[in-house]
Amino acid sequence: MSPTFFFSLLCLFSLLLLLNSALSDPRATQAALICENDTAPAAERTAFVANFLATMDAVTPLVSRQRYAAVVNGSGNLTVYTFGECMKDLSQQDCNLCFAKCKTQVLRCLPFQIGTRGGRLFFDGCYIRYDDTYFFNQSVSAEDKTVCGTANYQGNQGVFGDNVVELVRNLSTEAPRRDGFAVGTVTRGNTSVYGLAQCWEFVNGSACEECLAGSVKNLSSCVPKEEGRLLNAGCYLRYSNQKFYDNSTDSGQGNSGNRSLAVILATTSGGFAVLVTASAIAFFLRKRQLKKRRERKQLGALLETVNKSKLNFSYEVLEKASNYFHNSNKLGQGGSGSVYKGVLPDGKVVAIKRLFFNTTQWVDHFFNEVNLISGIRHKNLVELLGCSITGPESLLVYEYVPNQSVHDNLFGGTKNVLQLCWGSRYRIILGTAEGLAYLHEESNLRIIHRDIKLSNILLDEDYEPKIADFGLARLFPEDKTHISTVIAGTLGYMAPEYITRGKLTEKADVYSFGVLVIEVVCGRKNNSYTQSSCSVLQMVWSLYGAGKLIDAVDPSLEGNFNVEEASQMLQIGLVCVQASADLRPSMSTVVKMITRNHEIPQPKQPPFINSTSTEIGRGGPTPSRECRSQQDSNTQSSGNDMTESWIEPR
Ligand SMILES: *[C@@H]1O[C@H](CO)[C@@H](O)[C@H](O)[C@H]1NC(C)=O
Ligand SMILES: *[C@@H]1O[C@H](CO)[C@@H](O)[C@H](O)[C@H]1NC(C)=O
Ligand SMILES: *[C@@H]1O[C@H](CO)[C@@H](O)[C@H](O)[C@H]1NC(C)=O
Ligand SMILES: *[C@@H]1O[C@H](CO)[C@@H](O)[C@H](O)[C@H]1NC(C)=O
Ligand SMILES: *[C@@H]1O[C@H](CO)[C@@H](O)[C@H](O)[C@H]1NC(C)=O
Ligand SMILES: *[C@@H]1O[C@H](CO)[C@@H](O)[C@H](O)[C@H]1NC(C)=O
Ligand SMILES: *[C@@H]1O[C@H](CO)[C@@H](O)[C@H](O)[C@H]1NC(C)=O
Ligand SMILES: *[C@@H]1O[C@H](CO)[C@@H](O)[C@H](O)[C@H]1NC(C)=O
Ligand SMILES: *[C@@H]1O[C@H](CO)[C@@H](O)[C@H](O)[C@H]1NC(C)=O
Repeated sequence: MSPTFFFSLLCLFSLLLLLNSALSDPRATQAALICENDTAPAAERTAFVANFLATMDAVTPLVSRQRYAAVVNGSGNLTVYTFGECMKDLSQQDCNLCFAKCKTQVLRCLPFQIGTRGGRLFFDGCYIRYDDTYFFNQSVSAEDKTVCGTANYQGNQGVFGDNVVELVRNLSTEAPRRDGFAVGTVTRGNTSVYGLAQCWEFVNGSACEECLAGSVKNLSSCVPKEEGRLLNAGCYLRYSNQKFYDNSTDSGQGNSGNRSLAVILATTSGGFAVLVTASAIAFFLRKRQLKKRRERKQLGALLETVNKSKLNFSYEVLEKASNYFHNSNKLGQGGSGSVYKGVLPDGKVVAIKRLFFNTTQWVDHFFNEVNLISGIRHKNLVELLGCSITGPESLLVYEYVPNQSVHDNLFGGTKNVLQLCWGSRYRIILGTAEGLAYLHEESNLRIIHRDIKLSNILLDEDYEPKIADFGLARLFPEDKTHISTVIAGTLGYMAPEYITRGKLTEKADVYSFGVLVIEVVCGRKNNSYTQSSCSVLQMVWSLYGAGKLIDAVDPSLEGNFNVEEASQMLQIGLVCVQASADLRPSMSTVVKMITRNHEIPQPKQPPFINSTSTEIGRGGPTPSRECRSQQDSNTQSSGNDMTESWIEPR
């Protein structure tokens, strides 16, 4: 076999695999999202969200193993109960896809601003619910819902209605007797109706019966609509004029792969068909061989073979490398997922990011993005080594950067002042600026980071900075809800035009960078949402007005810093946080300013964020009394700061 031919075969394998996954239907469409009104008190949100995230981390591997999961985390009134389950007719692969998307979307109830303490999301293929009270014994609740379709049945509505009633009656008696699951159809003449009933795994026979008891009455109220869904705490029943379920006997055991292959073979012709046939034979040979080794994960294993040398990692390898995502290997928790340290079989130490966000679009978008982004290399950017998209969760593999983040070094438990002497801080600021300039202006992609902050700047063995998490923002759908914005940026670092108008340009990163510069020089966080006297930005601006910029420098440096450099650095910081995006310099200009190859302009007024109204207020250069003193509320990250804690609960 010539190498070219072999390569074509490999490409075809991947194509087939992708088509295979595209042809099945995970039914990841929303039937209803029910959020509770009850909200956590502000002081408890941090802990509640952390527990919520812990249950979300725990639930996916269980669902991918046993198709349902019930997990609990936390104690007392901060306990979070989470349950997830797939419909029993879905293949395991479709189950994973549906559940991954469901998990993403249930966040819309999440305790970000409103602090909602419970939510349920019904998809047609899967279900997820979280709550702060025990509900694993509940089959009906006050929030139960019947949701009818929008279109009327086109045809004999009388017959259709009779069919619905008969079908629903049948399903609701059958399901409790058959392990909580039944599908069926009723046809009279040319009028058919199809249905599926399922009770959740924790619901026993008698409770299942109770749960479905009202279904005939409730769902017949939907007739003559084409569709109706009963969405209860303990069960789900759907009828439709379309067959939507999969009643093939062995759903998901690779037969859908054969089916899709047959479709492809039937629709291709000519020389291409020869190639396809050849690859199909190789495909089956390879498949049989793999089946012996490990049946379940054939997709991952094959993709691994196809793309071994490149970016693709197998889920199992990464799972093992991180000791099954053991808590002791956890490096941190970010808005987009948890990060674990892992040791690959060849001994290489890596950081594995377990993404919270994982949707079916990943298969389409992700490979491209990773390929493109992985082509980006710069000494001040954390290198992306690869990814795994075939397992139950999407994972990103990064180079391991040993000395934690600048945030940990400045404000962590063991304050590491020795390493962060003035020289280190200067190098951190310069390196970060160079990395950003590369992302904005030199890389072929023109990447806006959107989430520049101290905890995203990691330090290598020489305490050189490396920017983490770049490019991730590209993966979020353009603007679905406020979630993407909230997750993508941390308030206090977010440019005013981005907060108020969602306007996103490189200048938003320049703003965040300005905040970061000021924080690094002052050794103080810009907690614009705490009740404390005033933000560090405000303080530096006031001192600038008073001509005493040097007073703002971190007192823990004990005067060991270059006065001229420090004051220039603060001025650069102020230039970067100017309210007008147009006035902010580009990052390459910033690099020139830092290295004294460019004049630093006089900064205009920076925006200030009013801590109660989230409006952009105006603070004048007249120093207020509190703003002169900087030691107040120093280095304390506020537990009440919901935004911060959601992004990084610690
Ligand atoms: C939630 O609260 C709003 C206003 O307080 C109320 O109108 C609504 O009925 C409540 N919903 C639930 C499910 O309790
Ligand atoms: C909750 O999650 C944390 C973090 O994953 C874990 O350390 C802890 O053991 C969990 N608690 C319970 C009660 O499962
Ligand atoms: C939760 O419990 C803590 C201490 O156990 C208590 O201070 C707090 O008020 C409780 N919150 C609610 C909403 O009951
Ligand atoms: C479920 O369990 C909770 C706590 O154990 C209890 O308060 C509640 O009454 C139970 N509900 C049902 C329907 O059994
Ligand atoms: C079924 O579950 C309900 C509620 O969880 C419980 O009250 C009942 O005793 C259970 N019945 C059986 C036969 O286990
Ligand atoms: C069903 O059959 C009846 C006559 O038997 C016909 O009038 C009607 O148009 C048909 N409906 C559909 C949807 O084909
Ligand atoms: C409905 O249930 C009855 C009795 O269990 C059975 O005879 C009948 O075939 C069922 N109909 C359908 C459409 O499943
Ligand atoms: C569903 O049926 C139950 C019991 O028959 C009833 O209490 C409830 O209001 C009904 N719900 C809807 C949405 O019709
Ligand atoms: C699946 O359902 C369709 C229509 O309801 C039916 O014709 C077919 O025989 C069923 N297949 C199996 C394997 O039960």
